[in-house]
Amino acid sequence: MYAQLVKSEGSKSRDEMTPEEIAFQDRIDRNEKIEPKEWMPEGYRKTLIRQIGQHAHSEIVGQLPEGNWITRAPTLERKAILLAKVQDEAGHGLYLYCAAETLGVSRDELLEKLHSGNMKYSSIFNYPTLTWADMGAVGWLVDGAAIMNQVPLQRTSYGPYSRAMIRICKEESFHQRQGYDIMMKMCAGTPEQKAMAQDALNRFWYPALMMFGPSDKDSVHSAQSMAWKIKMNTNDELRQKFVDQTVPQAEYLGLTVPDPDLKWNEDKGGYDFSEPDWSEFFAVIAGNGPCNAERLGARVKAWEDGAWFREGLMAHAAKAEDRARAARHAAE
Ligand code: 3HC
Repeated sequence: MYAQLVKSEGSKSRDEMTPEEIAFQDRIDRNEKIEPKEWMPEGYRKTLIRQIGQHAHSEIVGQLPEGNWITRAPTLERKAILLAKVQDEAGHGLYLYCAAETLGVSRDELLEKLHSGNMKYSSIFNYPTLTWADMGAVGWLVDGAAIMNQVPLQRTSYGPYSRAMIRICKEESFHQRQGYDIMMKMCAGTPEQKAMAQDALNRFWYPALMMFGPSDKDSVHSAQSMAWKIKMNTNDELRQKFVDQTVPQAEYLGLTVPDPDLKWNEDKGGYDFSEPDWSEFFAVIAGNGPCNAERLGARVKAWEDGAWFREGLMAHAAKAEDRARAARHAAE
């Protein structure tokens, strides 16, 4: 249905480009990095702000489902690890907001767009985390899907984004391993613990597949974003790679992927698998998922609760500026 509402944005042919756009595209094709002060088409700048901004918001909103479990982690060690992971996500958000700022948009503007519902964050964070096993499934599947998407983005054409991704990917791989480690412990535990792990896989499998975005035929931005090397792979390519990597990991755990049609396909050298329910995906990204209102409400509340602190910082900066000006005056 959504596909009927959106018009696919194909990339421009060379005949349709201005000389400046041709020179820009040639730089992209030679794998040169584009840096902040250099000329870029307005569409390139806007696409980057949209993608980097959404990515930054995903990191920040993504702290909520896991933050919910810090006080209930089963051991002190697990608590310390989860706390560190959630702090890492905040750091990732900040690197990405900084990368977006180099394109001429402030962090405040991006946050305003998030809070008013005019910018998205990843669909996955609109699902609840009901048990401790969900911390395992989130680390294993959600961070696993994020890495699958983000490793190629280390080679993306925009310099600040690419450099932010290099640092983020290093940390994400630890995140995935801590999730898988939780799953291994639970699967080697009591039958009840193993059942919790299976239940978490059942609930997070399709939402994790949705993280890669709609199927290629419904992806509005892929063609142009790939021509500009803002995206390096299509949504379906990455989803396939994720399934191929994750199914053997589930088998190792002794868990069953909740897809009766999952089957190894010798000819394509990958698994055939069932598509997620795309009507659910489009409902979630339109704001109607199980936790959208709660997640956005928590972010808006945090912003409002922090108003006194931002005002204090601004007042302090203004006083320091006044003092510096007075000192300069006295010295003249
Ligand atoms: N959740 C929410 N919205 C999504 C989505 C998802 N999983 N997948 C696609 N969409 C949206 C798109 O933003 C677009 O809407 P818009 O025009 O209003 O922006 C629409 O659906 C159509 O999809 P397209 O395929 O045309 O969109 P893109 O070309 O932007 O591809 C993407 C989507 C693959 C997610 C791409 O934006 C991307 O690679 N982004 C960078 C990675 C990222 O944002 N990751 C967040 C994952 S969570 C995370 O990293 C936190 C970590 O700690 C786990």
